[in-house]
Amino acid sequence: MSDQTKTVEIGGVTLHLSNPDTTEQSWIGQDAILKQLLACWLVVDPRDRPLSPRLLGPPGIGKTTLAMAAARLREQSLYINQCTADTRPEDLLVTPVLAESGKIAYHASPLVSAMLTGGVCVLDEGNRMNEKSWASLAPLLDHRRYVESVVAGVMIPAHPNFRACVTMNEDESTYEVPDYILSRLQPTLTLGFPNRDDEMEILKYHLPFAQVELLALTVEFLQQAHALKLDFSPRDGINLLRYALKRMAQDPTHPLGRDAAWREALICVLGEEAADLEDLARRKRRAMGGQHAPMGLGDLFFGPEDPLHPDADDDDDEDEEEDEDEDF
Ligand SMILES: Nc1ncnc2c1ncn2[C@@H]1O[C@H](COP(=O)(O)OP(=O)(O)OP(=O)(O)O)[C@@H](O)[C@H]1O
Ligand SMILES: [Mg+2]
Repeated sequence: MSDQTKTVEIGGVTLHLSNPDTTEQSWIGQDAILKQLLACWLVVDPRDRPLSPRLLGPPGIGKTTLAMAAARLREQSLYINQCTADTRPEDLLVTPVLAESGKIAYHASPLVSAMLTGGVCVLDEGNRMNEKSWASLAPLLDHRRYVESVVAGVMIPAHPNFRACVTMNEDESTYEVPDYILSRLQPTLTLGFPNRDDEMEILKYHLPFAQVELLALTVEFLQQAHALKLDFSPRDGINLLRYALKRMAQDPTHPLGRDAAWREALICVLGEEAADLEDLARRKRRAMGGQHAPMGLGDLFFGPEDPLHPDADDDDDEDEEEDEDEDF
């Protein structure tokens, strides 16, 4: 069996394989998390087996990219199974399709295609998937390493080279992944935002034709957002830059200035609120009840209720309102 195989015969059933994802993708900076993911996929003894970790982090931070780059480094084909709230077990495993001959043809999902060919499967946005679909993967994710397709009536074992990981973000519009599944998706690898140098390299890698000044403006913005614990991501930076560059190139006779284009892109891509990060961070903190991690330098020295806190004046009115509420 090779990665080029288009069909595989199993238990008397012919399965048509999905195509691997061939997108070029490098991982820039943050070597530690890449090493952690690669370690999960190592097998250190004939009695050992690979782990299927969860990659956690906010949207656009690089979860899918990390998994793609790790698969590439291992020189394995990569299959991405996009998970949604509507994904059914058969979508994850084998789907029956009516062929031209009038017969049923069985199509292997990207996951099953990776299992059969010894590739890597990224279950992307796994937190969106419902419990029934997750349940069909329980045997695959423990020592059994197989799935059972009810539709095709076959048991499908995973190739020894098969590796998997799941990307998840803490998006509220999603299902709770059941505990017995979470306990099979170990360890949890949490992605952090890139540092200044890495963020610059990431933007340059994706937009090598962007002017240095535009790149610098964007990195400055993203770094400030990361320091304030706001979830603006490298993807946001890439989209912002792409739009600014297009606006600048649009009309050569009346070129839009760099700063004006960047500012317009900021508002159009990330919304008005992105224009004042300090204010956005303050409002976010209030919405969370002031319970959470430091948002600015003042928080490192003063508690949220401290009258010496730099934000104390702004918060006064609100605190009084809250106090009044409590009195009644
Ligand atoms: N370290 C990195 N090296 C190269 N590119 C990166 C890196 N981090 C982020 N990117 C780029 O940022 C963009 C967003 O990354 P990606 O799609 O992997 O994010 P994600 O965490 O999977 O987001 P989502 O939760 O929305 O699926 C991509 O264009 C990706 O290539
Ligand atoms: Mg992703």
